Amino acid sequence: MTYRVALVCLGNICRSPMAHVVLDERLARAGLDDRVEVASSGTGGWHEGESMDRRAAAVLRDAGYDPSRHRARTFSTDWYAEHDLLLAMDHSNLADMVDQAPTVAQQSQVRLFREFDPLAREGDDEVPDPWYGGADGFRDVLAMIERTTDALVEQLPDLARARPH
Ligand code: 4NP
Repeated sequence: MTYRVALVCLGNICRSPMAHVVLDERLARAGLDDRVEVASSGTGGWHEGESMDRRAAAVLRDAGYDPSRHRARTFSTDWYAEHDLLLAMDHSNLADMVDQAPTVAQQSQVRLFREFDPLAREGDDEVPDPWYGGADGFRDVLAMIERTTDALVEQLPDLARARPH
């Protein structure tokens, strides 16, 4: 059975789409792409249907990824039933997700993406929103996403085995 991972940020045009593209690539490389399915969305619906932010797409393309398939989607409470693991990019995204469905959201199902980052520390556990900054911010976000995704992919087989059903 497929293990379904959702990546969630605010606008679904910068951080979670970048993580989506990187995770898809790493899963294919690890031969796990037939067992793990990835989706991404934003808690705010302003950009629904849009492609990735131009700066995010450029940083991905420079690093050899293909950002062209992304279309922004909006998070809804249906995502809890449709995914096994929901990873928020920052604390505010996480709070928004839980606020929408306080009785449905299980602690173990909704987590911070950087919980998997080996370099995360207390007070440094978010993927910062690069929307208002320059290209450097997007490059930093990509590096953070890549190392976090590598650690996540290593743990996915165990997470899938431990899935409650
Ligand atoms: P993201 O970045 O959550 O990483 O996609 C943002 C994109 C757009 C907006 C905010 C954050 N916005 O306010 O439109």
